[in-house]
Amino acid sequence: MEGQGEHHKSKKILCVGLVCLDIISVVDAFPQEDSDSRCVSQRWQRGGNASNSCTVLALLGSPCAFMGSLCAGPVASFILEDFQRFQVEVHSPLERAACVTPTSLVISSAATGSRTILHMNSNIPDVTFEDFSAVDLSTFKWIHWEGRNADEQLKMMAEVARYNAASPPQHRIVVSVEIEKPREKLYQLFPHADVVFVSKDVARHLDFHTPQSALQGLRGRLRAGAVMICPWAEKGADAVDADGTLLHSDAFPPERLLDTLGAGDTFNAAVIHKLANGCRLQDALTFGCRVAGAKCGFHGYDGIADKLTQM
Ligand code: FRU
Repeated sequence: MEGQGEHHKSKKILCVGLVCLDIISVVDAFPQEDSDSRCVSQRWQRGGNASNSCTVLALLGSPCAFMGSLCAGPVASFILEDFQRFQVEVHSPLERAACVTPTSLVISSAATGSRTILHMNSNIPDVTFEDFSAVDLSTFKWIHWEGRNADEQLKMMAEVARYNAASPPQHRIVVSVEIEKPREKLYQLFPHADVVFVSKDVARHLDFHTPQSALQGLRGRLRAGAVMICPWAEKGADAVDADGTLLHSDAFPPERLLDTLGAGDTFNAAVIHKLANGCRLQDALTFGCRVAGAKCGFHGYDGIADKLTQM
């Protein structure tokens, strides 16, 4: 991850995963079931973990690209325009006619900062190995996967491993993966990345009740030289480096918690941004917590650019 030349710096970070439409209703307080109340505001926002991470990478100044499925139509146009606004390159090979772009209805409570997500993804197929094979790997220095269709993603990772084996060290692509959902299939991905983000949900599903115990217990699933990172909401985040040393950063909560939607995606992006620029794992972890914490203090992601000077 270190000692990369100028040529490498101009390469992009690719995030593979979900893009969706988030229809966000901001409320003063979470509504009662079967009530009729007014929202403070409503907005459309481009969402999805990999897509949100691209937004944040772009705001942090990392050239990046997104790969994921979209269905032609007005929602896709909104999404593509927004990617363009952030100068995120889009690889969306799947503009299939008869499908619907995934959508989330989000209730964002200003009282607590909570975000309640109702997600609908009916029939859009995830990116396949075949789609992935069409991209020119030499334009990327880092590829991040949001764990989803693990069987296909394993094939994509194997392709990157082949590419790396045939490339000189300075051209090798770093691979990261987010294992966020507690689904057995996704656990196959652990040994195939250099950097693994494992969620609190997954840790708990595997019966670990602290980030430290999760990292210690899951470390054996990583390949040699890999690191693992485990964010734990208001407790900050922990990591284990390649030689087994445990690291920690406290959280940096904003004065007022306003909007936690995409805080995890923000954390991942900030960590990747730092590691891709040759920073130490501890510094990347702390920066991830700072940026994710700051993000919870305003709606959306644009405010990140303003906060950077204070980090
Ligand atoms: C936030 C998010 C939202 C999206 C939902 C999908 O992490 O990516 O943007 O609606 O999760 O699960």
